[in-house]
Amino acid sequence: MSNARLDVLISEEELRAKVAEMAAEIDRDYAGQQVLLIAVLKGSVHFLSDLGRALTLDSEIDFLQTSSYHGGKSSSGVVQIRKDLDINIEGLHVIIVEDIVDTGVTLSHLRELLSTRKPKSLKVVALLSKTGTRTVYPPVEYIGFEIPNEFVVGYGLDYAERYRNLPYIAILREE
Ligand code: PRP
Repeated sequence: MSNARLDVLISEEELRAKVAEMAAEIDRDYAGQQVLLIAVLKGSVHFLSDLGRALTLDSEIDFLQTSSYHGGKSSSGVVQIRKDLDINIEGLHVIIVEDIVDTGVTLSHLRELLSTRKPKSLKVVALLSKTGTRTVYPPVEYIGFEIPNEFVVGYGLDYAERYRNLPYIAILREE
């Protein structure tokens, strides 16, 4: 995309306030318990980092990586595990940390996969959820922002690996 325009959708300040709000809610729900935050690479790294530091809970982190977009702008519908967890999650309170839920295919696959490993509980926190784009409907217990069906980048989200470093979320438009 040679001529691209970025229109800010969610500012840095709005992100900061929402992450604090979500952390407070999770803190309340899991009071006195230890949780394992599982970040789905790469898009959720900044969200994990900010959310993880905003939580006062006793928490650990681990990472896994899937891929379905292959650098393009629409999902291939095929979910591959490119990097699996290091930690055995049996008996743990697990929270999957996602940057965005779009078709729901990635999350549906992950929920199924991680459930077979017998965590004590399994919930999902997603910073962004697209409206009207689901082909499958996995539960998402904590959602930061419902957003329109636009291609968004920033705060971890990319287009062909670019723009992940932006401190805000923007709609990427071709000019
Ligand atoms: C993105 C995002 C989710 C998934 C959501 O990951 O981080 O994991 O797509 O889409 P879905 O609901 O349609 O399945 P991507 O595969 O682009 O990898 P990335 O995070 O490394 O950019």
